[in-house]
Amino acid sequence: MQHNKVLILDFGSQYTQLIARRVRELNIYCEIHPFNKIPLDLDSFKAVVLSGSPISVRGKAVLHPDLSQIRGKKPLLAVCYGAQYLAHFSGGEVAESNTREYGRAHLNFIKEGEEFFRGITKGSQVWMSHSDTIKQLPSKGVLLASTHDVENAAYKIEGENTYAIQFHPEVYHSSDGKQLLENFLVHIAEVEQDWTPASFVEETVDTLKEQLGDDKVVLGLSGGVDSSVAAMLLHKAIGKNLYCIFVNNGLLRKNEFVDVLEQYEGMGLNVKGVDASARFLDALEGKSDPEEKRKAIGRVFIEVFDDEAHLIKDVQWLAQGTIYPDVIESVSATGGPSATIKSHHNVGGLPDFMKLKVVEPLKALFKDEVRRVGASMDMDKKLLGRHPFPGPGLAIRILGDLTREKVRILQEVDAIFINNLRTWNLYDSVWQAGAILLPVNSVGVMGDERTYEKCVALRAVESTDGMTADWVNLPYEFLQKTSNEIINKVKGVNRVVYDISSKPPATIEWE
Ligand code: XMP
Repeated sequence: MQHNKVLILDFGSQYTQLIARRVRELNIYCEIHPFNKIPLDLDSFKAVVLSGSPISVRGKAVLHPDLSQIRGKKPLLAVCYGAQYLAHFSGGEVAESNTREYGRAHLNFIKEGEEFFRGITKGSQVWMSHSDTIKQLPSKGVLLASTHDVENAAYKIEGENTYAIQFHPEVYHSSDGKQLLENFLVHIAEVEQDWTPASFVEETVDTLKEQLGDDKVVLGLSGGVDSSVAAMLLHKAIGKNLYCIFVNNGLLRKNEFVDVLEQYEGMGLNVKGVDASARFLDALEGKSDPEEKRKAIGRVFIEVFDDEAHLIKDVQWLAQGTIYPDVIESVSATGGPSATIKSHHNVGGLPDFMKLKVVEPLKALFKDEVRRVGASMDMDKKLLGRHPFPGPGLAIRILGDLTREKVRILQEVDAIFINNLRTWNLYDSVWQAGAILLPVNSVGVMGDERTYEKCVALRAVESTDGMTADWVNLPYEFLQKTSNEIINKVKGVNRVVYDISSKPPATIEWE
């Protein structure tokens, strides 16, 4: 079945992915493409959205694609930069604004009887983030809404299905943003809302059956949401021809290898647990640099996985739990490649020498959609709600060099922290949590004895995608009880601190 599709042309805004999420929340399928790469199958898209951008239409580096295949031919919604772009290049005027236009504003004028503003009334809160402003509308522009500071906050083009807005409907702070997107997409562009987790499962399973036939597929399970949901979809499609491998790298959480393996077996998956802890820990010996640790783990993982995959006779496919944010070709506003902060996804890309064809059933989905798809297949809520956990595991939470004893200590501390979050019903409101073993000893006193032992940091953050994050304001009483329990129960630790740094400037992991 061909879904109704919406095209989002990305001009590099930090919010572009949010537009896609909001559109998907309306059960409409959409794709993000760079502004200068209009897809060849443009005919299959029923409507187009232009994103915002950090760039000014007045600058030398203006992003100026040819939209002649789209403009006036398909319903078009231009957001922020998009709205300025249409004005600037079609007879209007864009100038630097005199007042700062960031954050909250309210629509104090809305043209009556407009389908675009169906169900939205005067006073509606919108979110602004721009330093240029539209002084004059483009030719055939009709004013639709204003705020106190921004007269041309929304307009349409007479005789076309083209709408433009200066504010951001995709952010939650625009209180009627979703309604506005629905008005445009559903009522004006008449895009059908036919994209649901259940329809996704049905179609994906059919496609996988067709694509894979009787072929054998190998998949590396990590215990996380993405690989587990990918495995379930493949299991539905090809059953026992799916061979799952779950590697214990010795850097998992306490009891995780056994617990998760049991859970996978309970789900009916054909899964082999491979305990390669010693191989990983040996390879890490003497390494204290974070990137060196990541590389060593990545290398051993590939070796172990490759050995195991070759034991499966005639395997032809490698399945991966890649999701949409990993594949979107992002537009760099400054033109240059972005700096490597950390080499993530070390276990994501397996090398070409494996000579396997790659199948990625989740590569069109966002994380929250992966969870919804998992839920629609009745997968365990606890598994679907698991916090993200990095591929190199506890290795990057033990700062500096790593020993088996340090892994043991951190596993104990982490288990207390995570169990307490669950007991206090805080686990689901935190995006990610974990403990970090610091490379310092500090003086303490236990009984009448002086101690000189390890210090651990606890970290709990809220986030939507891990790109930005803030520390969670955990209750004092929770921190107090958890800290006491850790110091009393974990031999070798005499001090606990709580990390109150946001990302940026800090990162979520300490290494
Ligand atoms: P940072 O520390 O960059 O982390 O703020 C953002 C998210 O990525 C995870 N992370 C990793 N995941 N391999 C992974 O698979 C890695 O090397 C790695 N480093 C960080 C981190 O846990 C957080 O969810």
